[in-house]
Amino acid sequence: MPADLSPIDKAKFAAARRAVDYVEAGMKIGLGTGSTSAWMVRCLAERIRDEGLKVTGVPTSSRTAALARELGVPLATLEDVKWLDLTIDGADEFDANLNLIKGGGAALLQEKIVATASDRMIVIADAAKEVSHLGAFPLPVEVIPFGWQTTRALIEETLFSFDVLGRDVTIRMSGDHPIKTDEANYILDLHLRRIGNPRQLALVLNQIPGVVENGLFIDICDTVVIGKGDGRVTIRDINTGRVEEDQIFLDRDDNIFADLGD
Ligand code: A5P
Repeated sequence: MPADLSPIDKAKFAAARRAVDYVEAGMKIGLGTGSTSAWMVRCLAERIRDEGLKVTGVPTSSRTAALARELGVPLATLEDVKWLDLTIDGADEFDANLNLIKGGGAALLQEKIVATASDRMIVIADAAKEVSHLGAFPLPVEVIPFGWQTTRALIEETLFSFDVLGRDVTIRMSGDHPIKTDEANYILDLHLRRIGNPRQLALVLNQIPGVVENGLFIDICDTVVIGKGDGRVTIRDINTGRVEEDQIFLDRDDNIFADLGD
């Protein structure tokens, strides 16, 4: 492992490496998006190469698809496979019930569709992603470009009837232009600071015309694998209530780190 990898990257790697142990031969795997998921794709590619593991990946973004292709992970579309055994993805926040905020990488729509179409979702994260209440991380909402200012105004109005600490809504930009998602939509970021009732907010946001999907993942995640900078991992499963501790050894010297460009 390169000595200059930050503790956060080591934590992300540890979580990703441990989560890939759940992958079994023949599985159809949802491949998440983001820096932690990029580690997971590398670890999965390593197992495919070293063990001859046969799996099919369904990427949740064009970025993940490109990385997986580059590393030799066989891919299919959700249309091809229809249902998945397992999705492994990162998160921006998770709470004690394993409800999540996702979409910091603007891929929440495909991520939610893929995770919902999976028998099991495993979230991989460093310990800083754990919160007592969701909402410090701005909640991403994917909206169609047509009339997006009107959609934003409707969201702002709706937020007045919710138990939240902030109500600013900003459009996510890339330079002078709103960023476009893989589905050619825009992302609004809701700066709520604390969300009193995430379940209700998730339902109501999706009733607003122009909203395609929001980044609250409620009752979707089954298991979280939390990595630490020294390679320790904690695994929590919401269905069984089990908590497991494990150790990933970080003093590796192999080519999984050769492509570090993400
Ligand atoms: C992508 O849209 C997101 O949902 C990511 O999964 C989330 O932002 C976590 O990203 P990192 O692993 O880079 O922190």
